[in-house]
Amino acid sequence: MKSIKASAPATVANVSCGFDIFGFAVEAPADEVMVTLTDRPGVKIVKIIGDDGRLPLEAEKNTSGVAVLEYLKAINSQWGAEITLYKNLPLGSGMGSSAASSAAALVAINELHGNPLTREQLLPFAMESERIACGSAHADNVAPSLLGGFVLIRGYAPLDVTNIPTPAELYCTLVHPHLELKTEDSRRVLKPSIPMKDAITQWGNIAGMVVGLMKPDYGLIQRSLHDVVAEPIRSVLIPGFHKIKDEAILAGALGCGISGSGPTIFALSTTRDIAAHVGQAMQKQFDTLQLKSDVFVSKINLEGAKVLR
Ligand code: HSE
Repeated sequence: MKSIKASAPATVANVSCGFDIFGFAVEAPADEVMVTLTDRPGVKIVKIIGDDGRLPLEAEKNTSGVAVLEYLKAINSQWGAEITLYKNLPLGSGMGSSAASSAAALVAINELHGNPLTREQLLPFAMESERIACGSAHADNVAPSLLGGFVLIRGYAPLDVTNIPTPAELYCTLVHPHLELKTEDSRRVLKPSIPMKDAITQWGNIAGMVVGLMKPDYGLIQRSLHDVVAEPIRSVLIPGFHKIKDEAILAGALGCGISGSGPTIFALSTTRDIAAHVGQAMQKQFDTLQLKSDVFVSKINLEGAKVLR
């Protein structure tokens, strides 16, 4: 039977001020998924490589499995599917690990059917996977992983997603400490409502980010990369967060914040050299806390998930 392998990249959700509405894709790491059509209905996860046996093999509990199940049901496919998942993203990292698996699986299964659905039309299946993974069907990881680029989720009901153009020279540093945070837990600590003055600050920054990216105006991006909603609460879950953020800014980053629900920390910079230097400065701080970490430096990945030929 026919097989197709696809990959989908890690993503930075929220991007400081845009809780649940901003996300962008990076170049690496990326998950890879091999999907094979079968004439047996249903979805079987054949193998997962790279997760140390921690992810569920039941299709209904695995994000790539759920996404493919939902897809096959929606298009009324006569086929079933077998999935092999190459898990390259760390679990519970805040780098969109569950989203990358479902995005890659969806691109592969859609390709196997001759691409009857657009990337945007694949989004609801990936969001359903997020709901299974963490109890919330947010799109700020799955949308950039599937579509590439910097994505704005303008609305959820109905889903309204659009790409924001980004300056050619914008580099992301990701520093992933070897710690895990469950998105479910980092969402539970947030307050159900926020004061009006914080809302005003936040929506000013969100609008500032959009204009700053589009113009582009690095000063405006710098002034807008602030979060008064999630970061003050979640930062206590990340050892050394404030010191690391200070060091990133000192090293030349435009801004720095929590990647998604953490514990990975991201920074944005205007050159690859600055982004690399920022990564070293951030990692040094994790070192002083005896926390091992990985650094990834990348441009914004405009391509997103892709079929591997
Ligand atoms: N917007 C989501 C959150 C992203 O911050 O909970 C999860 O990676």
